[in-house]
Amino acid sequence: SMTNIVWTAAVAFAFLLGNVSADSSAPYPSDFAWGAATAAYQVEGAYNTDGRGMSIWDTFSHIPGKTANGDTGDVADDSYHRYEEDIKLAVEMGITHYRMSISWPRIMPNGKLPLNPKGVAFYNDVINTLLAHNIEPFVTLYHWDLPQALANDSAGQSEGDKLFGKGWLEASVADDFVTYAEACFLQFGDRVSNWLTFNEPLTFVNLGYGSGTHAPGRCSGCSLGGDSATEPYIAAHNVLRAHGKAVARYRQLKAMAPSMLDGKIGITLNCDWGEPFTSSKDDEEAATRFLEFQLAWYADPVFFGAYPASMVAAVGDRLPKFTAEEAAQLKGSWDFFGLNHYTSKYVKKPDYPAPLPGMGNSWYADAHTTQTDTSIDGILIGPLGDSSWLHVVPWGFRKMLNWVAERYGNPGIYVTENGCDVPNESKMSLAEALDDKFRVDFYRGYLSNMAEAMKDGVKVKGYFAWSLLDNFEWADGYSKRFGLHYVDYSDNLKRYKKSSAKWYHDYIRANSPGK
Ligand code: NOJ
Repeated sequence: SMTNIVWTAAVAFAFLLGNVSADSSAPYPSDFAWGAATAAYQVEGAYNTDGRGMSIWDTFSHIPGKTANGDTGDVADDSYHRYEEDIKLAVEMGITHYRMSISWPRIMPNGKLPLNPKGVAFYNDVINTLLAHNIEPFVTLYHWDLPQALANDSAGQSEGDKLFGKGWLEASVADDFVTYAEACFLQFGDRVSNWLTFNEPLTFVNLGYGSGTHAPGRCSGCSLGGDSATEPYIAAHNVLRAHGKAVARYRQLKAMAPSMLDGKIGITLNCDWGEPFTSSKDDEEAATRFLEFQLAWYADPVFFGAYPASMVAAVGDRLPKFTAEEAAQLKGSWDFFGLNHYTSKYVKKPDYPAPLPGMGNSWYADAHTTQTDTSIDGILIGPLGDSSWLHVVPWGFRKMLNWVAERYGNPGIYVTENGCDVPNESKMSLAEALDDKFRVDFYRGYLSNMAEAMKDGVKVKGYFAWSLLDNFEWADGYSKRFGLHYVDYSDNLKRYKKSSAKWYHDYIRANSPGK
């Protein structure tokens, strides 16, 4: 019968697609960017090859005790030498876009001009190889590897300065960044049409200048007893100034040479969703402040030219002020919204009368979250990945996307990172690790919630899985694996496809209308 034929055809079709079906009436447009992401310091290695200078992460990871097992990015995945193999993995997975970052000290060993020709040649090779395979590069300028030479400039006073240097505490670094950004636009901009200035300033500012657990390892929150931290606010301020100036420069160059530079530019911000623990007004307000102290800290200046009122009120004099010119330059300094999202937390108004102010995080927001406890009142918001901060909460992604759309006037959004690690993956045999059902479930859940958000009206333009392959997970070294591909650190860095890479391949196929 007819029903039978239709049914058989549907089953055969589902079978051909490897049992991944299109999300029902999935709203992906035909030019949707399907991608995967990496970052220079996490994958390249070759830290002292071909004239590369040192970055603050080289310095930091070489100090005993700063990273798990003393791991460094000296070799990492050796992608500097194996980029063609990595791009082949990307091609086989069927992605249309590849998010990568440029290492500032590789192309400017001292953080300033002149350029290192071998560093420039490397990125030309990577970009050209991607394009030859019809994969669009999506390039981040700063994924945390500040040239050490710039951090050294005013080393001197305190112990922290001597060890690590000031880096983003110096206003002048914003100008150095613009020089570097301009060099990248001029060298690569004829072929790169999507740029990100910074990756996750919230993370490198809070961990690098507040808790000291990331480079440059400054712990202003600790030494000052946690109640007078100033450094995260100053660092964030200079990063925002640098972003505003770099976007202005890009637009200027674009206007001068439209036939050569014709791309889009934005910034990538990260945020965990904050779910009110109860429906009380107190908890709802605490959840809003929590989101403001993470995302709006950076996004409000970029969209509106000013910090959120809740931060101005709580941080007071320690929150620097933009000049009128800076505010005007920042306002509208985006062509799209770059969002990294992984997890969600419950948030409630603290029970105690006066919460201890902390480091520009939820304590100042007067919001009690799972950031400091793994649960509120013993209630977990979702199953845990391998990293203690990563609760799997697919529905939080849909809410996060809707919040961004609502607060910022429904901008085009690129999800520039989303992904997870798998409980105990580093301790598994190769065969066990390759069969990563946990990760497949993560992607299935998060992607279907992204599709729902798009049906809600959120304009998602692209999605990048973190990460193409296992890599150096910062202070956690190689003990945490976020890759769709496995890297065997005990056997010559051999790469293997995990089940998730195959699943993502099939999902992209099933959700690429017209291709
Ligand atoms: C955010 C960062 O941008 C990336 O470098 C990191 O590896 C992932 N999240 C996972 O923690």
